[in-house]
Amino acid sequence: MSRQRSDDLMIIWYHNTTSLIKLDIPFQIATFEKFIFLSEGGVQLPVTLEHILKRVRDLPPLPTSAMQLISLTKNPTTSAKDLEFVIGQDPALTAGILRQANSSFYGYARRISSLQEAVVLLGFQVIQGIAMSTAIAPLLKTQLVGYKINQEGLWKHSLLTAMAAKRLCQHRKLPYVEVAFTAGLLHDIGKLIISIYVREVGDYLLKKATESRLSYVELEGKVIGFDHAKVGGFLAESWNLPDELVAAISFHHSPSNAQNHEQLTSVIHVANGLAGLLGIGGGVDSLYNPIERKALDLLTLQESDLKLVLVDLNRFLLDPALFG
Ligand SMILES: [Fe+2]
Ligand SMILES: [Fe+2]
Repeated sequence: MSRQRSDDLMIIWYHNTTSLIKLDIPFQIATFEKFIFLSEGGVQLPVTLEHILKRVRDLPPLPTSAMQLISLTKNPTTSAKDLEFVIGQDPALTAGILRQANSSFYGYARRISSLQEAVVLLGFQVIQGIAMSTAIAPLLKTQLVGYKINQEGLWKHSLLTAMAAKRLCQHRKLPYVEVAFTAGLLHDIGKLIISIYVREVGDYLLKKATESRLSYVELEGKVIGFDHAKVGGFLAESWNLPDELVAAISFHHSPSNAQNHEQLTSVIHVANGLAGLLGIGGGVDSLYNPIERKALDLLTLQESDLKLVLVDLNRFLLDPALFG
């Protein structure tokens, strides 16, 4: 497929094995609502719900250990023993946790050599967060060409969002710190599915994002048919994740549209915006998805609160072992 733009025409050439199609669209009236793109695989944009759901079903499930940890995170009676049992079933997870527990960030002079020791020294909640991020990391370490995200990018951005969400909860004394951390880790999973379409229309989305009053994620919805937040919600549902995670993922760019769990969703929205400001792995869309004033008001957050969280995130960046 090739595209040219003259002053007043957007021309798209699409070639498949049997025909060559030329679409001449007067540029002035080629609004995103009327625009039709054909992707490399011959998929017409906007895509259908059926097409998206098929791709959702084709994605591998979350690792078993991640699913078990999510259900533990939800349960307030979870004990250190429960956590150790789940982690102990997965040698790679145990190794990953010990590697992170020994990173300079946690500052222990002597080596932590067992899971039990790590729980005692770092605390149950810290280990729960490390375990969740270690279990989810393989899923997120994927290059997403459409969003110009390198192999480690989505993982780093997701971890920074999770850390920011955790800090915001602690700052506001909200009771669901670990759920917010998990929601932060998973908030952009829809990008795993949407990226192949963004690759086709990325230049157009960027151009429109600078010209129009619409955010990048709104343009995704209009041009591709579905935005990455909504598709992430489909994915979360297909993995049977709890309602609050589905809501936080689905509405992380529009928390005021969430019918339930608006406060948690607002935390993830603000955390994502802060992580995006660091310019690490958030993708080409980061600067075109603004933080909503309404979300800041709901959480009674001032600019000074946001600065504190940003200082914290910068501290994390000093220790690359955390992303290991
Ligand atoms: Fe996002
Ligand atoms: Fe994000």
